This record gives sequence, C-alpha cells and structure tokens, in this order.
Amino acid sequence: MKIIVAEKAGYCFGITNAMKLAEDTLKQKENQPIYCLGDLSHNRQEMKRLEERGIIKVDRIDDIPRGTVIIRSHGVSKEVIDQAKAKHLKIVNATCPFVGAMQHKVYDYDRKGYQIVIVGDADHPEVQGAVGWCDERAIVINTPEEAEALPHYEKMCVVAQTTAIEKKFNAITSILQEKADECMIFNTICSATAERQSAAVETAKRVEYMIVVGGYHSSNTRKLFEVCKAHCSNTCHIETAGELNLAEVKKYNVIGITAGASTPDWIVKEVTERMEENKTENTQVQDQAVEETV
Ligand code: F3S
Repeated sequence: MKIIVAEKAGYCFGITNAMKLAEDTLKQKENQPIYCLGDLSHNRQEMKRLEERGIIKVDRIDDIPRGTVIIRSHGVSKEVIDQAKAKHLKIVNATCPFVGAMQHKVYDYDRKGYQIVIVGDADHPEVQGAVGWCDERAIVINTPEEAEALPHYEKMCVVAQTTAIEKKFNAITSILQEKADECMIFNTICSATAERQSAAVETAKRVEYMIVVGGYHSSNTRKLFEVCKAHCSNTCHIETAGELNLAEVKKYNVIGITAGASTPDWIVKEVTERMEENKTENTQVQDQAVEETV
C-alpha cells in the first residue's frame, strides 16, 4: 500500500498564526481570564486541547466580563470589536489577513455607495462577520440561480468568502457583471484555499481511495471533500484517526490524504500512523498465510 499525502495538507498560515497568538497569550496569562469568541479554529479536538489549557469559549461578547478576548481567524463584525473596546477588554486579534482584506473591501465600498454582494455561505461565521462591516447591508448569495434573481444595481461590489470554490465564484461573477452599471469584483479567495484545493485534486487523480481529514463543520474541509470526490469517487471525510474505515482502506493499494486548513498536524499524523499499522498487520497476516501454505 502506498500512501500519498497531498502537498499543503493541514494548517494554513492564518490558522498557524491564530494558534501561535493563542499559545503566546496563554504563556503571558496575567491572572486575567482568556476568552475566545466561538471556535478559534473549526477543529473540535484542537479546541478541546485549548480549553483544557485554560481558554474559555463563549458565544457572545456580552458573556465576557473582563480579561482578554482572542478574535478568531474568521474575524468578527465591527460592532463586536467596538463592544470589546468599550468593555476595555484586551483584544488579541487573530483575524486572518485574508479575511481582514475582505472585510476592508466590504467596509470601504459600502461607504462609497456600492451594493455589497458576498459570494459564500450566509451561515458561516466569516461571512456573518463580514456582513457586520457594512451595517448588515450586504447581500449573500451562493449559487448562480441566486445571482440571476438579483435586481439591477447602479454600483455593485462583489467579494468572496475566503474559502469559496474559485470555479463557482467565477460562474457567479460572470452573471453579476451584467447586474450592475458598474461592477467591482474582488476575488478574495485566499491563496491557501486555492493551493490546497488544487494540490488535493492532483492527489485525488492519482489514487484509488482519498481521505480528507478535518472538522465536519469546517467549511474548507468540506470543500476539499467536494473537489476530491469529483476526481476520486472513493473519497471519505473523517475527523479523527479513530474514524478510519480500516476494512475499506485494506481494499486499495494507493491511498491519498489531505487535510483542511484547520486540521492540526498531530491528527494527520495519527491517521497516517493508523494506516501504517494496518499495513504492517496486513503484511504480517499475509506472511503468516504464506508460511502456513508452505
Ligand atoms: Fe486565512 Fe485562508 Fe487560512 S483565509 S485562515 S489562510 S484558509
């Protein structure tokens, strides 16, 4: 059995940065509680580890009486930042620079009078945070049909959720171009997402079975699964090594692995180790069978 780990699998630079800021904040803990708003990363196992080390997860800024708040890589609305300042909380802003750049476009073009359109998932925290940079005036769409249904605007500014699929974004923006006299389009998909998706596709094309490792609620992991499945029908999505279907793994000779941008290296390592162990056990069983036959 050959295991191919896709290039760029695992932590992207935005999550690496957020985790480093969280670790640094924990080290400097000054007898003040440390909070994070929502999940610092969309990985339950890593969140559990951080909570065990003392980070308190809350859902609303109102739930933080004092201390430090870490703003996660997905970013938050302007209102939340303003509230944190008004409460004199120490703010550790781990918003990924790619998300920050997208929020900036939303803020800037809304003030210039453009109708903001965000291509992405309206339920995703990154998109919800971005909508909060233009006083909730943005329209969020996720399909070409929704783009077709929009009325005509004088001025429109289109941005993407950073983890959107490029092909889909291009299909939607080609429709939106006709929906405004002036249409400013900013492809704010982060390079880490695009690189990860194309590396995963290259691996998926070469293997018989493809394993995508990452949180079930991680948007970029789910999209990796989608693009891999399009090139390798035997693609599965797991969150931990314990979920590996070893009976299925045994059926294939060439297996690929990729991991979402919020999947820590230690989980990817556990998955590859579990497969290696399985391979060794198989080889031993086969050797035994040969000996018995002889
Ligand atoms: Fe940032 Fe892209 Fe990662 S937006 S958090 S570098 S997936």
